[in-house]
Amino acid sequence: HCIQRDAGASRPAMGDSWSHSCFGFLDYKTEKFALTRNRKVGVLHRLIQLGIVGYILGWVFLAKKGYQEKDTDPHISVITKLKGISVTRVRELGDRIWDVADYVKPPQGENVFFVVTNFIATPKQVQGSCPEHPSIPDGNCRKDEDCSPGQPVVHGNGVKTGKCVPFGASHNTCEIYGWCPVENKTLSRKPLLAEAENFTLFIKNTVNFTRFNFSRTNTLKTTDGSYFKGCRYDAVDDPYCPVFRIRDMVEAAGESFEEMAHLGGAIGLRIDWDCDLDQPPSRCRPCYSFTLLEKKFNFRTASYYRDPLNRQSRSLLKLYGIRFDISVHGQAGKFSIIPTAVNLGTGAAFLGAVSMTSRVKKGPFELQLPSAPGHCSCMMPLGLMGVVDPNKQRAPCWPRLVWMLNDVILDSCHPRLPWFATSSCCTSIRKPNFIGARNTRR
Ligand SMILES: *[C@@H]1O[C@H](CO)[C@@H](O)[C@H](O)[C@H]1NC(C)=O
Ligand SMILES: *[C@@H]1O[C@H](CO)[C@@H](O)[C@H](O)[C@H]1NC(C)=O
Ligand SMILES: *[C@@H]1O[C@H](CO)[C@@H](O)[C@H](O)[C@H]1NC(C)=O
Ligand SMILES: *[C@@H]1O[C@H](CO)[C@@H](O)[C@H](O)[C@H]1NC(C)=O
Repeated sequence: HCIQRDAGASRPAMGDSWSHSCFGFLDYKTEKFALTRNRKVGVLHRLIQLGIVGYILGWVFLAKKGYQEKDTDPHISVITKLKGISVTRVRELGDRIWDVADYVKPPQGENVFFVVTNFIATPKQVQGSCPEHPSIPDGNCRKDEDCSPGQPVVHGNGVKTGKCVPFGASHNTCEIYGWCPVENKTLSRKPLLAEAENFTLFIKNTVNFTRFNFSRTNTLKTTDGSYFKGCRYDAVDDPYCPVFRIRDMVEAAGESFEEMAHLGGAIGLRIDWDCDLDQPPSRCRPCYSFTLLEKKFNFRTASYYRDPLNRQSRSLLKLYGIRFDISVHGQAGKFSIIPTAVNLGTGAAFLGAVSMTSRVKKGPFELQLPSAPGHCSCMMPLGLMGVVDPNKQRAPCWPRLVWMLNDVILDSCHPRLPWFATSSCCTSIRKPNFIGARNTRR
């Protein structure tokens, strides 16, 4: 393929042009430089170059470690274990011991689990008829007609039987068929498992950066076997101890433990690994952070049994507590020649692009200038093209981006141009066959 390079008024004869272009393929072309002795343009050019070198070295290489190959998707495993015992004393249950099997749900040691801190117990429920709780608006009544039989109570505990019956001394409520007696809504103001503040959570977390065959565990190797029994995580004093006190975690998330323990909530625990494998492996350590995800959290659970009369019975618990959600994020980097070369190449290309925008190519050449007749165009460094109307003396030079960076045009300029486009920027190159504009140089 032969490319016709010259078009427009000064185009030579057809055959001439073809042979010219065909041989032109084998020609060696050198650039022609125009020297702009404008200090402002020169300083600007150097500043841009300096900025690019600073960006490549400072940000890409030093701050972002652009010379490293990265693995941001490690294989992760998390195992959790809680420790602690609490005793509760409530009228419905009497004295009761809560150990790990009772207050951790689910108990398997997963990365999402729930710790009970408060509860409402309703033991010995059997299916039968009893008055609905007065706190439920749809359950209140004055006479039997208020309770249409067979209808479930809205947000209630059962199906209306059609009778209006007294609840305690002061209320009348619809009788329902459901699990009776209904749940007492009164929640203890003081968390029933107050000792939960001193429960401890042990986290074992392993990350395996498969790309580098590098694996690391947060239970850092120590010769002292009793270390994990004694240590407590502390953001300042002991940031690598994998044993956390519940109260410390809630407070690190910016919440008061009493509030959380009363009505429940959810806390996010995030483990971050940022490993530089060009350094000794012992420098690769986890970083823990805590966030409040949710306020108020509860759910109900029941255990079923047969009572002495062989009726199916259940013991209902409405549990309030703190849900922990452990997430692990990791990245590891190691020197590699490929990203280094790519980033160096990008930097070189940037520098090249800057030199190109400041390069001036002298005419004659053909280019449809984006200006209307009677306007003149001027080129500023950085590839900005300005167009001015010489008839309107006060018209500003509107900069616009020019994409043909290599064919930068310097044209006669309007006196009222931004400082960087004045005087020698406008070392006026008039094209002999300039299309669509008169020579407006005065
Ligand atoms: C609900 O519990 C509170 C406090 O434990 C108690 O004072 C109240 O009598 C109970 N109400 C019923 C209906 O059992
Ligand atoms: C938790 O532990 C601290 C210190 O070990 C103790 O002062 C506090 O009474 C404990 N809290 C509970 C509810 O037992
Ligand atoms: C990965 O590392 C382990 C020990 O660190 C080694 O036994 C194993 O051979 C390595 N695997 C590969 C594929 O290099
Ligand atoms: C990381 O996981 C890979 C693949 O599951 C396994 O082949 C490798 O041995 C593990 N590396 C270490 C150090 O455990």
